[in-house]
Amino acid sequence: MVLPPSISTPRLLRLFKLIFYPLDSLENYYERYGDIFIVGQSETPFVYISNPQGIQEILTKDKTHFRTGGGSGFLTTFLGNNSLLSLKGEKHQRERKLLTPAFHGERLQSYATLIYSISDEVSEKLEINQSFNVREIMQEITLQVILKAVFGIAEGKRYQKLKNLLTSWLSFFDSPINATIIFFPFLQKDWGNWTTWGRFLRIKAQIDDLIYTEINERRQQKNYQGKDILTLLILARDEDGNPMSDQELHDELITLLIAGHETTASSLTWALYWIHYCPEVEEKLRSHFSILDKNIDLLNIIKLPYLDAVCSETLRIYPVVVNAFIRVLETPLELMGYQFKPGTVFAPAIYLVHHREDIYPNSKQFRPERFLERQFSPYEYLPFGGGSRRCIGMELAKMEMKIVLFTLLSKYKFKLSSSHPLKPVRRGLTIAPPNSFKMIITQKLAYT
Ligand code: HEM
Repeated sequence: MVLPPSISTPRLLRLFKLIFYPLDSLENYYERYGDIFIVGQSETPFVYISNPQGIQEILTKDKTHFRTGGGSGFLTTFLGNNSLLSLKGEKHQRERKLLTPAFHGERLQSYATLIYSISDEVSEKLEINQSFNVREIMQEITLQVILKAVFGIAEGKRYQKLKNLLTSWLSFFDSPINATIIFFPFLQKDWGNWTTWGRFLRIKAQIDDLIYTEINERRQQKNYQGKDILTLLILARDEDGNPMSDQELHDELITLLIAGHETTASSLTWALYWIHYCPEVEEKLRSHFSILDKNIDLLNIIKLPYLDAVCSETLRIYPVVVNAFIRVLETPLELMGYQFKPGTVFAPAIYLVHHREDIYPNSKQFRPERFLERQFSPYEYLPFGGGSRRCIGMELAKMEMKIVLFTLLSKYKFKLSSSHPLKPVRRGLTIAPPNSFKMIITQKLAYT
């Protein structure tokens, strides 16, 4: 059986590189082995692929030839067996169908004003000539937005507590060293509150408690008319007329809370960085904003081509999710001239595709214009993955990025607190700007 080139680096060294130098190690492999290569020596090959035609074949066949979701890895511990990320097959499709309306059409548009007012309010606390931690501000905004979308309200003691707990929970993995625990299951042992995993589990228990309390209360409010996701899920019935169990509701809610704000906060942090790292981008963006009617119509902002290109380029150059979810082959497959047997694991390498010089010349340069000059296929540009698992929150995330950037840039002028280029670092399973990244407000603008 003909297989692609295989990387024989010892497992521990590979993991070390994956944790501490995730992008460099992928790039080194790409330089040496090209579009498709196998890592590890196990019986079931683990294949990284960055060839758009190959990825197209995988993503268009991922319902029929591949298994996605399932498993018992870290994500299942983190989010539960009934999370959209863990579900597979028909159950996954049913749940996706149920959740999709919450992220499209009218419902999606109703979040626009919410995003605007939350970013306005959160950024009000920024002070002139003071440096601020960009991620903290972005995370505060995205967490409030998702709490409101999921539960319908973002006020009161329970929400405050949930917000604080979610923030501390995620900070367990906020640096490469802290993220190590994800990759070494033997570290995931509960030896009490003085161990990292022990504290992690105790915070998780408190979060679970709050979510179950909320579910219970909502179930009691028989005529609740909310348009939030929790209400949508409580009202949903399967084909036999059964409602979702409390545990199913819990797992879905926590998934959306986590997936829905961490990634968007990182992308927004990058966007603010790039806009100010490249002064010509800031200038151009501001000139596009200035031609807008002063009676702000958020839907016009979302349609601004240059703003769209800035967000696309941000998600291209450092996609926060470096590889799409793994797809496990279920039938024999010939791909790119190689023969693969069932059980082979494929990881579409988003970061590597986004840095192919044949598609993105000078790929390390931040140049939004490339998105105005040509269109890229969904297999050449895929920050949200693709196929049957494509990110369900894609439209929400894109809209949120645009409205938050517009709000912040309309209110203030910023500068970077250091001119050194930022290097991406691991943050849990994602890649993000370093936690220490700060900016300074230099001017408050006369803005409505
Ligand atoms: C810039 C922000 C975001 C990025 C870059 C991002 C990226 C991704 C990627 C790469 C995947 C895997 C897709 C695949 O393997 O084909 C994914 C899945 C997912 N994302 Fe996002 N995401 C973002 C924001 C959001 C938001 C706002 C939500 C929800 C409110 C969300 C919820 C999910 C869920 C539930 C899945 C699993 C979908 C499934 O398995 O069917 N994400 N995301």
